[in-house]
Amino acid sequence: SGSPTASSAQLGFNSIAGSKIDAVSVPEGYTAQVLAPWGQPITASGSAWKDDGTNNAEDQDNAMGMHHDGLHFFPLNDEGTDGLLCVNHEYIDQNALHPTGSDADENGIRSSVDQVRKEINAHGVAVVRIQLQANGEWMVVDDDPLNRRYTGATTMDISGPLAYSSKLETPFSPDGSQARGTLNNCGNGYTPWGTYLTCEENWPGYFINTGETTAEQERIGIDTSGTTRYGWETVAGSPEERVDEFARFNVTPTGANASEDYRNEANGHGYIVEIDPYTANSRAVKRTALGRFRHEGCTFGKLEAGQPITFYSGHDSRFEYMYKFVSEALWDPADADATDRMAMGDKYMDAGTLYVARFDAGGTGAWLPLTLDGATQDGGVLADHFDSLEDIILNTAGAADLAGATPMDRPEWCAVDPFTGSVYLTLTNNTRRDESTGTNAANPRLNNKFGHVIRWDEGETASEFSWDIFVFGSDAAGDAETNLSGLDEFNQFASPDGLAFDKRGIMWIQTDNGADEVEEYTNDQMLAVVPSMLTDADGNAETINAANQGELRRFFVGPNGCEVTGFSMSPDYTTIFLSIQHPGNWPYSTDAAEETPANMSVRPRASVVAIRKTDGGEIGV
Ligand code: FEO
Ligand code: CA
Ligand code: CA
Ligand code: CA
Repeated sequence: SGSPTASSAQLGFNSIAGSKIDAVSVPEGYTAQVLAPWGQPITASGSAWKDDGTNNAEDQDNAMGMHHDGLHFFPLNDEGTDGLLCVNHEYIDQNALHPTGSDADENGIRSSVDQVRKEINAHGVAVVRIQLQANGEWMVVDDDPLNRRYTGATTMDISGPLAYSSKLETPFSPDGSQARGTLNNCGNGYTPWGTYLTCEENWPGYFINTGETTAEQERIGIDTSGTTRYGWETVAGSPEERVDEFARFNVTPTGANASEDYRNEANGHGYIVEIDPYTANSRAVKRTALGRFRHEGCTFGKLEAGQPITFYSGHDSRFEYMYKFVSEALWDPADADATDRMAMGDKYMDAGTLYVARFDAGGTGAWLPLTLDGATQDGGVLADHFDSLEDIILNTAGAADLAGATPMDRPEWCAVDPFTGSVYLTLTNNTRRDESTGTNAANPRLNNKFGHVIRWDEGETASEFSWDIFVFGSDAAGDAETNLSGLDEFNQFASPDGLAFDKRGIMWIQTDNGADEVEEYTNDQMLAVVPSMLTDADGNAETINAANQGELRRFFVGPNGCEVTGFSMSPDYTTIFLSIQHPGNWPYSTDAAEETPANMSVRPRASVVAIRKTDGGEIGV
């Protein structure tokens, strides 16, 4: 074919120094703007954000949520100056969300119904229209008809193998066709047909079962004592008003059957959720065929007409696995322009085969099918342990254990090189990998506090792949066994997390640092590299090493206390949108260079940041 196999992009900026200030840092010639921070109203029903935390639950239901994470820009015009930004809101900071800490008990649990509703409403997804103004700044279009929130309480449809399953039957949805809310929306994805994918990550922490537990609850780690993460199930009050709304987070069986209690409530969580941003008031759909676990993100592989679509999704927890879903339907490029977008989700995401990865020594690997006839390590098949595909999906991680998947150092985001089709995955860190757990070829470091980025190429069949490790995180001062990629001051990093390719073949790596050695030097950051340009004399792909490491360049540093996450670019490459999550003391100002005012008391606000060149040109090159 005539399509190039390597990018021609060349990074056109110098790597910036690390920084540890209450402001963002960008290369010379760039600006960064705060856009759509937590609490900014997006519909007429929400009041303006108040800096004393007194906005109520209804305000929060009509405003940007908290702790921005994955995001994507969906253009509304050819120039890409008008569009819809979808933003995940992963979790909350209760101290910043509420007026004071004094109305909470010693565990931080709220007793006010409105405050608990506000917490639930601060989770989920925001869809907000934004436009680029003549002055080069983006603005939120207030009360646009397409602006909307999906929260931890929004009704959503269940699709795929678990739709109408008896395991999804709840008092709210007696036929098992719906679930309430999406929680802990971390990484994201998008589809070739123009929908947004939001990923349910650490949802098990929102549920508790103090009675008889199921195998899948034990495997995924639903709590059996104490309270849930925010204690929503403990809220006291008159049952008429609120028992169903909050008590549903306690999934302890109490009735004779599932229609009398909340035992199946958690079974409606742990999925990839599809949203059509372009259709006002459209219902979100949970695509269960892609597995049920702590989904970090969801990324489709290089598209080929007449071939299946592959979606990749990592399970972010220590020693968990990497998955892919291969659609039964074959890609028809005309579907990119379909007007009924959710019908495309039905077509490509509801039927197919889910696989889990086994990384073997020597750079080869196998995708193990999680189907009834999929092989188990002991020479049997999954049908020896599961009655149906529904049951396999409900306990995806348990099925993957039996299949013999490789335990990884926390699979986070995945990204696909638009030129080579190579798939890159961040393995953020795993300080519990020790002598007792051992290492494996794909996770070769004990006490892996710096993390690494692994990559693979699909093989001839859907069950084969080949892999190598693209870069190892390290501090610049790390010894030869730690600093395996030869990083220096200008690209040292730890805990890679967010990961994305732009269409020019530039890969962007974001960090959620957990290593003091790097944290002493810099806040969380975003680096850039063009992997397909890194080839040896024979044209074979290279990894980052002492000779070429200068091609990995630091582009952005976030403010104190934050994590840098979420990536999207305007179609003309002139704006990068990213998220600043859990900043310590920010934003004071939209001016990246401004000093921290000495005596200013500010409630920190997670936010989108829009990065542009001061001359409006293409970013990164
Ligand atoms: Fe929410 Fe795995 O980061
Ligand atoms: Ca993450
Ligand atoms: Ca992380
Ligand atoms: Ca986070």
